[in-house]
Amino acid sequence: MPSDVLLSDGRPRSWTAMVRCEDGDHTLELTHREVVAERLLRTSRKHSFDPDVDVDWDAPQDPDVFYMPPQLASIYETPLWDALTHRQRVELTKREMCSIASFGIWSEMLLMQSLVMHAYRHRYDSDHVAYALTEIADECRHSKMFGRMVRTCGLRTHRPRALEYHLAKTFGAVYDPMPMFAGTLVVEEFTDAFQRLTFPDEDVQPMIRQVTRIHVVEEARHIRYAREELKRQVAEAAPVRRRMAAYALAQATRLMATQVIHPSCYTAVGLDPALARRVAARSPHRRATLAWAFRKCTTFFHEVGFLDGRARDVWVRAGLLER
Ligand SMILES: [Fe+2]
Ligand SMILES: [Fe+2]
Repeated sequence: MPSDVLLSDGRPRSWTAMVRCEDGDHTLELTHREVVAERLLRTSRKHSFDPDVDVDWDAPQDPDVFYMPPQLASIYETPLWDALTHRQRVELTKREMCSIASFGIWSEMLLMQSLVMHAYRHRYDSDHVAYALTEIADECRHSKMFGRMVRTCGLRTHRPRALEYHLAKTFGAVYDPMPMFAGTLVVEEFTDAFQRLTFPDEDVQPMIRQVTRIHVVEEARHIRYAREELKRQVAEAAPVRRRMAAYALAQATRLMATQVIHPSCYTAVGLDPALARRVAARSPHRRATLAWAFRKCTTFFHEVGFLDGRARDVWVRAGLLER
């Protein structure tokens, strides 16, 4: 570890930075990159999984058992949900879980690409780069695991719509660490909230519980890495650039939130996808669920000045943040 990282008594050096927001000044606690990365590498060595052997892929799937807690289904507590049979509800949770996993693979690929670009620009012998490479390895295993999970459910993965697919292909090839780490948090904190409710639930399919548990354990350190790096990026950025990035990310999140559930999930249970999507978008339960799933992320964004300016309104209007 470089000599300037530790204080004379051996404790890691940390410092503060001030971010000026419309609602006042926010203080950020910053820790040296190498200290954060060294801790994350240590946990990665202790708590990493090999989904090929750590998941019982042959576990029987009971047709009456949900694939995620039903309250996480997009149309839960709506007349459309009430009209479905139990088996149709189970099928919908299976489809929605696999749709979220497809979305997860797509976003993990974008993240891996960004992390390579990030590592490329830092010292190759640093723990910061070693951790970025470790995270890429984690995400490689996750994407394979999600693909296998969808196949084991007897389904196929989806790509996002052409608009999001091509936009992400273009913007994903540009290295811009501030929106990149913030975007990582949006996706990781959202899926984390859903999965933290799924893996301990004994009324959910065992294979899904194993997959989501592995993901929750390994994602906790990804979230730490992204949060610490975003704080550093924000501390150095001009306020106008921070607000522009926050606004663009809020718009991207609004777009993303409407696309996580693929229309084929609804057709599979005999529902009109346009109607089901409208019902889900207006459902108070769904809006509360999404706001809850994004809460850790939005609370952190508020602290670091990433809901500053017009970004907050976009989040609120999209129903992803309670005013
Ligand atoms: Fe992941
Ligand atoms: Fe991750």
